Amino acid sequence: MSNNKKTLTTGSGIPVGDNQNSLTAGHNGPGLIQDFHLLEKLAHFNRERIPERVVHAKGAGAFGYFEVTNDEISKYTKADFLSEKGKRTDMFARFSTVAGELGYPDTVRDPRGFALKFYTEEGNYDLVGNNTPVFFIRDAIKFPDFIHTQKRRPSGLKDPNMVWDFWSLSPESLHQITYLHGDRGIPATFRHMNGYGSHTYKWVNDTGEAFWVKYHFVSDQGVHALDTDLADELAGKNPDYHREDLYTSIDKEDFPSWTLYVQIIPYEDYKTYKWDIFDVTKTVSKEDYPRIEVGKMVLNQNPGNHFADVEQAALTPGNLVPGIEASPDKMLQGRIFSYGDTHRYRLGANHQQIPVNRPKNESTSYQRDGYMRVDGNGGNTPVYEPNSENGPTEDPTKKINPFEVYGEADSVGYDSEDHYTQPGNLYRLMSADERTRLVQNFADHMRPVESDEIKLRQIEHFYKADPEWGQRVAQELGLSVPESVK
Ligand code: HEM
Repeated sequence: MSNNKKTLTTGSGIPVGDNQNSLTAGHNGPGLIQDFHLLEKLAHFNRERIPERVVHAKGAGAFGYFEVTNDEISKYTKADFLSEKGKRTDMFARFSTVAGELGYPDTVRDPRGFALKFYTEEGNYDLVGNNTPVFFIRDAIKFPDFIHTQKRRPSGLKDPNMVWDFWSLSPESLHQITYLHGDRGIPATFRHMNGYGSHTYKWVNDTGEAFWVKYHFVSDQGVHALDTDLADELAGKNPDYHREDLYTSIDKEDFPSWTLYVQIIPYEDYKTYKWDIFDVTKTVSKEDYPRIEVGKMVLNQNPGNHFADVEQAALTPGNLVPGIEASPDKMLQGRIFSYGDTHRYRLGANHQQIPVNRPKNESTSYQRDGYMRVDGNGGNTPVYEPNSENGPTEDPTKKINPFEVYGEADSVGYDSEDHYTQPGNLYRLMSADERTRLVQNFADHMRPVESDEIKLRQIEHFYKADPEWGQRVAQELGLSVPESVK
């Protein structure tokens, strides 16, 4: 035993005399309230859990870096971390499932979160995306309803009736559920999936010229799926299969990497493009806007402590750095509020001081006080602005690019109700084997639904995207496509 073994202390650093026996009045006597160490130990234990993320609760994270490989990117954005070839920026990434709770198996059919934090010299830039380029709904106002269907009924049970009731009544979900029931629905590992920003974002260069941008992180390990039966088996045998895979590959220095490509859309094109580029249920064709390489993301360091670095990580689409701005996407607009709000609830008002969330540059805000303020709280510096004490002031060159808005304030949907062309194209793009697996996965998922009305409503959507697809799912379920749909 080493001589410099440390003495156990309380949280306040007071040496502990006995960590095996609590203090009692005599051998068989009752416990004493003066046993402060026992009380502190039990009380702290009772407070070990913080609220889990309301979605994406189960995940794994790692640190790494992003390196720019293309000198031309600064033509499109003044974002400092993309300014020149060879520039490296430290990063944190977290991958997750969406619907399950903290202990849920990794290998279920679900989208995977692909959340990235870039510690840039101009503050933290977060890109909180998924492994699919589209989403189930296209207005933030529907998100809580949608997520309720993916979670549990008041009975505590999962329920395919509510899942398919909602999806069949929300046909904009068809594109995403096609990805979900195809091979991408269960990635082989977190390393074998692509990541997408999903929304269209805005980039602005140093002359004030703006572009729309779509992010694609392509896995250098290749994209591979898990066979459904194997995934079911693994869910029982090793619920942490994906977390373990990420950890062990980094541990043995087999560092996973992704190449970032962007699609750049000239600013004015949003007015005339054949799809609404702000509708997150749609993709933008690679033929129309080819992918341009930007750089490489490499994950090369496991979290030192899962709770400290992964549970306490707070990523938000609201963290945008100069040169990267929001688009009018109605989902993105809602997300910009939602994440910071949940972080203040889940981790507290000072969550940006937790090491994984702390920017690498100096934060000079006038925010003060609040629970768990641990950074000196600004010392005796001014707590208001403007001030005459040489406190930090704004930099007008960092303002967002002005943009024009028009029309009446109203609650209105997107113009296009075409929920079928893009999913139909995706179906037709699949190989014959993939289509068979897709039809099978849909039928297996829908079989327990009690109401034929719900099943037929969904079959109608498949049929409208591609008659063969509708026919095949109907047949698997022992139903016929209604004549009124044909
Ligand atoms: C996590 C809300 C749509 C990807 C979360 C969390 C909330 C949330 C409250 C928990 C965050 C935390 O506790 O730290 C919403 C709302 C949405 C929406 C209101 C729609 C209006 C989306 C979309 C994507 C996405 C479209 C992907 C394109 C993620 C990811 C996480 C997450 C990856 C996990 C972040 C992490 O790893 O810490 N979302 N979400 N969400 N969401 Fe969303």
